[in-house]
Amino acid sequence: MESEYTAIQICCDYILNKCGERPELAVVLGSGLGGLADRMDGVQIAYQNIPGMPVSTVSGHAGRFVFGTLGGKKTVAMQGRVHFYEGYSMAEVVRPIRVMRALGADKLILTNAAGAVNECFSPGDLVMISDHILSFVPSPLIGENVSQLGARFPDMSAVYSPRMRNIAENCAADLKISLKSGVYIQTTGPNYETPAEINMMKQMGADMVGMSTACEAAAAKHAGMEICAVSVISNMAAGISKTALSHSEVQMITNKASKPFQALICKLAEMI
Ligand code: HPA
Repeated sequence: MESEYTAIQICCDYILNKCGERPELAVVLGSGLGGLADRMDGVQIAYQNIPGMPVSTVSGHAGRFVFGTLGGKKTVAMQGRVHFYEGYSMAEVVRPIRVMRALGADKLILTNAAGAVNECFSPGDLVMISDHILSFVPSPLIGENVSQLGARFPDMSAVYSPRMRNIAENCAADLKISLKSGVYIQTTGPNYETPAEINMMKQMGADMVGMSTACEAAAAKHAGMEICAVSVISNMAAGISKTALSHSEVQMITNKASKPFQALICKLAEMI
């Protein structure tokens, strides 16, 4: 079996052949948020054409890398991501993050749609991730350590860059966009949570819940990237919401929030 490092190199070589430019910034666009990449006018590479790249199967996730400029910075954006619940291993789920790192990106903006556990949040809110709880899914770093990327036992005491968070807060203030802050908990999905699970998560200190992002942040931190992450609240979590949760609702609300979301991420890309 080839090593994870070799798999990353194969993806990287394929991409560099199609597009010589080395990005400095990587952006991951979550469910219903991929429209931001339409502002970028460089090469597009579908995941399915890249040898060894996992392919997203979820509606609302286009499944390609888009290269170009965002906020004046050479950027690679992921329009769609893969999730653990699709059946990929955690190493496969975070492979695109490591590929973007190997391409040269040392800054990362992660985005997602999330359910609000904190009852002070509302659908459509933008919330910066201050920290995460990854303990309910396998670590993406399990297995042989990719020592070319990082340490066996990486520190996770400041995954989300205080410098970038400060800049994001200033960007939001300049744009007159409300930006809240909270702790993100990752579940495996694909089922949404029960009200009892949400109650447990609330007591553990989580403010929002989702099925991605924290594993990507852990892999990126391991690889030495500087990370910032923004959730769009797509629904109140189970038990708080009076109605049943659905993926189409998640997409509809995130699409509605796309104007302030895109303005914030563009400005953030420029200022970091
Ligand atoms: N739970 C888990 N993941 C989610 C949710 C949720 O309520 N909303 C969007 N992604």
